[in-house]
Amino acid sequence: MKLIFATNNKGKLREVTQILKPLGCEVIGLSEAVGELEIPETGNTLEANASIKASTVYNITGLPVIADDSGLEVEALSGAPGVFSARYAGENCSYDDNNRKIISELSDFPIPYKSQFKCCAIFFDGAKIIQALGTLKGELILEQRGKNGFGYDPLFIPDGYEKTLAEMSAEQKNSISHRARAFNSLFEQMKSEGVLK
Ligand code: IMP
Repeated sequence: MKLIFATNNKGKLREVTQILKPLGCEVIGLSEAVGELEIPETGNTLEANASIKASTVYNITGLPVIADDSGLEVEALSGAPGVFSARYAGENCSYDDNNRKIISELSDFPIPYKSQFKCCAIFFDGAKIIQALGTLKGELILEQRGKNGFGYDPLFIPDGYEKTLAEMSAEQKNSISHRARAFNSLFEQMKSEGVLK
């Protein structure tokens, strides 16, 4: 089955392509499917933003779409940056800008810096909407470690591990990540609803 993944984020595209390969799904990124397209994330929740991305791209292509919205919630920051994770340090900021902002804000708080990644994954084909959530709990550290992954990965150590997500291989991150959990659960539901044979 061919699915358009409504994302411009190369890190996410790499991860989801790898997660869905064993399920026999071909994942096509947004730029390949429709060219340049920025979808405004105007929702206040991960669910709302994932749904905006999926319906926008379905309305343009008429093809089955998967989309996600994800973010990091930090307990000491009352759940921030949450739905604003991508632009925490401002519009057009880099991953490094976001990481430096979190480090500076957390330095006033005592350890541990309990946090969780959340991902809402959605499938939409014009008739059916299927939705799933995935969570990964862990702690942040105040120095960046590792070069793999993307976003806040160099600061995040999952519970039960010593390495940051950016020090893990792609396979290891994909075996535990919030995104893998959300998409694996989405695909289980797609199978049981007969969308995916
Ligand atoms: P969005 O889902 O495109 O709105 O943005 C999600 C943002 O959350 C990313 O730009 C990252 O900053 C952060 N994020 C989401 N998932 C991950 C992950 O797996 N690792 C690190 N950062 C992530």
